Amino acid sequence: MNPIRQAHLRLVSEGEREGEMNIGMIVYSRTGHTLSVAMKLKEKLSIAGHMVTLEQLETAGPVSLSATSAELETMPAIDTYEALVFGCPVQGGVPAPPMVSYLEQVASLEGKKVACLVTGFFPAGWGRNQTVAQMREICESRGATVCGAGSVGWFSLRRKRQISEVVDSLSALF
Ligand SMILES: Cc1cc2nc3c(=O)[nH]c(=O)nc-3n(C[C@H](O)[C@H](O)[C@H](O)COP(=O)(O)O)c2cc1C
Repeated sequence: MNPIRQAHLRLVSEGEREGEMNIGMIVYSRTGHTLSVAMKLKEKLSIAGHMVTLEQLETAGPVSLSATSAELETMPAIDTYEALVFGCPVQGGVPAPPMVSYLEQVASLEGKKVACLVTGFFPAGWGRNQTVAQMREICESRGATVCGAGSVGWFSLRRKRQISEVVDSLSALF
């Protein structure tokens, strides 16, 4: 057998299945919407054979609805993850303050494959698109390769379908 192919097969059999990744999901959710979508995504990624850890961002105290940043109780480390999913709600057309604070403070995202997940209440043009764009921009400015993003509008009659489309499209990225 070709020695390169032989070495490749040995690596695959010694390690995890080919294509399996260690994925960290860092989620902020005030009322549970984003968390519920994130949990569905986690399940789908796990079924696909990835090792997935979901960590929720906790704030150090109550955050006022008009805040633009938030002090975090937890600062989940990302160094062990090869890929990351960042999830949060829209707040006032931008990512929720705890997620902004986290992304600005977390260690470099250099070399990490990242996907963003957003939920909002209104149609996509009323904050969700802007929030996705802003998360993408912050992640890229920290060195990440953003490979995709998706959002769900909670008020939509198509919410269930949107959730499964987002879960399908984001899980297919890894
Ligand atoms: C202060 C505040 C501002 C919000 N601004 C927006 C907005 O600009 N656009 C939008 O679609 N939803 C907005 N929402 C609604 C939330 O984004 C939406 O309910 C989201 O799904 C909540 O997610 P969570 O349960 O994970 O916290 C806002 C909610 C709050 C509390």
